[in-house]
Amino acid sequence: MKLSKTNQSAQAAAARISEVAQLLYDKGWAEGGGGNLSVNVSEHYAGIDFDFRTYPVIPIKNTYKHIAGNYIFVSTKGSRMREMAIDPGSNLCLIKVAKSGDGFQVLFEDAENTGIPTSELPSHLAIHNFLAQQGGKERAIVHTHAQKLIALTHNKDFKNNEALNNVLLRMHTETIYFLPNGVGYLGFEVPGSESLAIGTLEALQDHKVVIWEKHGCLAVGADVHQAFDRIDMLDKAAGIYLDCLKAGFKPELLSEAQVSEIKALLNGA
Ligand code: 13P
Ligand code: ZN
Repeated sequence: MKLSKTNQSAQAAAARISEVAQLLYDKGWAEGGGGNLSVNVSEHYAGIDFDFRTYPVIPIKNTYKHIAGNYIFVSTKGSRMREMAIDPGSNLCLIKVAKSGDGFQVLFEDAENTGIPTSELPSHLAIHNFLAQQGGKERAIVHTHAQKLIALTHNKDFKNNEALNNVLLRMHTETIYFLPNGVGYLGFEVPGSESLAIGTLEALQDHKVVIWEKHGCLAVGADVHQAFDRIDMLDKAAGIYLDCLKAGFKPELLSEAQVSEIKALLNGA
């Protein structure tokens, strides 16, 4: 995608994507082409004036009427986060969802960019449709291979929402404050599959982050930095847990009373 063809506010959105791409790589969560991200940038394209009628329309299995006509930046399939950090334009596509909501076009796909959207596009489209339907501030989706969160999903004791949240939300003060509803847990699904998209969408009804068994996690946020923060806090909680085990003791965890005190802060007490 030629970012030079986009307007300045869209370029600023791309710049934030490259900042987060660098963070994902520095964290060690983006080996090879691991992870993907997308941002609904429709607000930056209101009144855009270029002729996209010649771009082929690729059908979507579902009809996503809440994002009909929307513009979405999405990472290209196989793109490396460490390269996205330096050159977002070559590692992002701009897609336009058809007015009917059941197809999309990849815009700016020219000789310099043969990129196609991420293999996780089914999840990204379904989630953007849900976020638009909700009408809140959330516009960004980040999927990454957060190492310590993945490690926890190899423990059969954590393969459910309750057990996973009981540890992640009680390891330190931040998670309970910033993610009071905790995380969703999704049992193993094949990467890029419709069933991964369906399960993720279901888990996002009550959560901002979903942990994918033996694969990684996906978070939503007002922008890519907020989605990153949410994953970062959870991965830190998992890290403290694993550090305690490595040091030879079982962590005490925040007590019920301590959790209640933090929750009271949320309620302005
Ligand atoms: P893509 O390169 O197709 O986005 O795949 C990366 C990934 O992490 C799939 O789960
Ligand atoms: Zn992945």
